[in-house]
Amino acid sequence: MGFSGVYGYVVRSTSSRVSVVASDAPLPLGEYVELHYRVHSRVSGLLGEQGGGERVALAVVSNASYEHAVPQSVMSYLGPRAGGVESLKLSHTTLYVVAELSGGRAEPPRYPIPPDTPVRPASGDTLSRVYGGFTGGVRLGLLAPRSLGVEVRVNPDKLAKHLLIAGATGSGKSNTVAILADRLSAVGAPVVVFDVHGEYSLEPEDGDLSRVQIVEARINPLRMHPRILAAIIIPEPQARRQRRLLAKAMEGILRELRELSAKKGISMVTALQELVERRVRNVLAEEEAVDQESLLIRGLRELLVAEARRVGGQEERVVDRVVEKVEEFFEVTPLTVTGELPTTHISPGRMLVVDASTLGDEQKRWVLKIMVDEILEKLKTGHLGSTVLVVEEAPLFIGVDVGHPVKQSLQRFAREGRKFGGCLIAVSQRPRSLDVNVVSQLQNFVFLRMVQEEDIRAVMNIADNLDENLAKTIPSLPDGRAIVMGEWLGRFPAIVDIDLHKGKRIGATPPLTDIWARGRAQTQKPQFSLEL
Ligand SMILES: Nc1ncnc2c1ncn2[C@@H]1O[C@H](COP(=O)(O)OP(=O)(O)OP(=O)(O)O)[C@@H](O)[C@H]1O
Ligand SMILES: [Mg+2]
Repeated sequence: MGFSGVYGYVVRSTSSRVSVVASDAPLPLGEYVELHYRVHSRVSGLLGEQGGGERVALAVVSNASYEHAVPQSVMSYLGPRAGGVESLKLSHTTLYVVAELSGGRAEPPRYPIPPDTPVRPASGDTLSRVYGGFTGGVRLGLLAPRSLGVEVRVNPDKLAKHLLIAGATGSGKSNTVAILADRLSAVGAPVVVFDVHGEYSLEPEDGDLSRVQIVEARINPLRMHPRILAAIIIPEPQARRQRRLLAKAMEGILRELRELSAKKGISMVTALQELVERRVRNVLAEEEAVDQESLLIRGLRELLVAEARRVGGQEERVVDRVVEKVEEFFEVTPLTVTGELPTTHISPGRMLVVDASTLGDEQKRWVLKIMVDEILEKLKTGHLGSTVLVVEEAPLFIGVDVGHPVKQSLQRFAREGRKFGGCLIAVSQRPRSLDVNVVSQLQNFVFLRMVQEEDIRAVMNIADNLDENLAKTIPSLPDGRAIVMGEWLGRFPAIVDIDLHKGKRIGATPPLTDIWARGRAQTQKPQFSLEL
């Protein structure tokens, strides 16, 4: 065996999983290497002989140091006694052994790799033997480094165990979502993306724009339980009386609308229109011309205010607060009275992006809760086939400190979705703040670069078979490179360069200099005239 292509040599193995390598230069962190060796066993003799030769281990470079083999100070102390020997530099690298091949089969490693075993860059052949085998499913990317050209595919059937995507800002989470949403829907899955930032303006890779629908998340007060509407409008926990009053007022209006709609055989919206025309036309006449729906929404606001005053009676202070909250809510919240729930747009083979970026945090929670409950209900009753739901900014909904019912809804979706075909993909840049009770339901993983120690510890906690030595690579992963684990991939964790989604437009941060240049172009226009 020559030295060519040899990165270094094993100096010691502390377990079957961990070996330390000495080399004259550090090995690339997070990349694959392979080691060929033979093991002597007291019990069965030379292992691997029956299997047809040597064993091959596949390992990931997880940590490295770099130092003088003999410290410089010692060299100068030795002076002439060192005999003019040039000081040698040495790198010690830790390897995390992913799998062992013997007789062509990949197994978890059982034997520590013997000292003096040479370490070489992994070949495409070895990587394919460990990770290959699964040719169906959906392509996620290539094993790192891309140059080896070994494809990584994941099995969507195993997404019943859900998925957690974690990574620091800019590490590639949204790109991973784009790749998965696009490719899962391309094989027929209905995909719903709850788009917290309004960034998924996706052009599918196949160019078929009919596969994407973007809807704005709006709250429809007519289709919501009055108690939930009251909780959205008055979220303060101590304002119980205000909330009760408001719920009662809304109940009154809904009852009236239902009666009217039953009596005349008209829709709820037409009933609202009649009621508004009958009771609050004057108020609306004063307002500037707007579209029909906005008029109805304003009408509903007036009806609700009047009903709250009627229901509240003498309790003037409470009523005043309620009216204030209602008016503020109607002013700032994207509302609809005619629109259906976004869930009606879910369909196989398509991506539904629910843009919730105009909602406040509390409103986002409610809208998501209502959606999640709806989807689960439809899954259970067979009105929907297996659906993938992507939730960005997961700590907003399933954070430890979140006391909102959306958390229970997502937890139930994950737990029961397993039986009924609901797949939850949760995305987080702060895994440390996620509620473990909920994330313990997520058993497939994409871990992108994270630098905070607490976050890395948190993901090791969540993914209990993420070895500390493998996790050490997380801070130095480049954009889009991830540790991928879970049944959707197979038995062994992989380091994957996730494909870059070409059709993703808006998510990418525009260069600030472009924005500034545009701003300057605008301000350079003459602002005022000196002509008199
Ligand atoms: N798989 C990839 N291959 C190459 N470059 C990538 C990849 N993924 C992401 N990038 C680069 O990193 C940038 C940020 O990616 P992305 O928007 O997916 O990050 P993010 O984790 O969602 O960030 P944020 O937390 O800010 O939302 C992309 O614009 C792209 O330039
Ligand atoms: Mg993002």
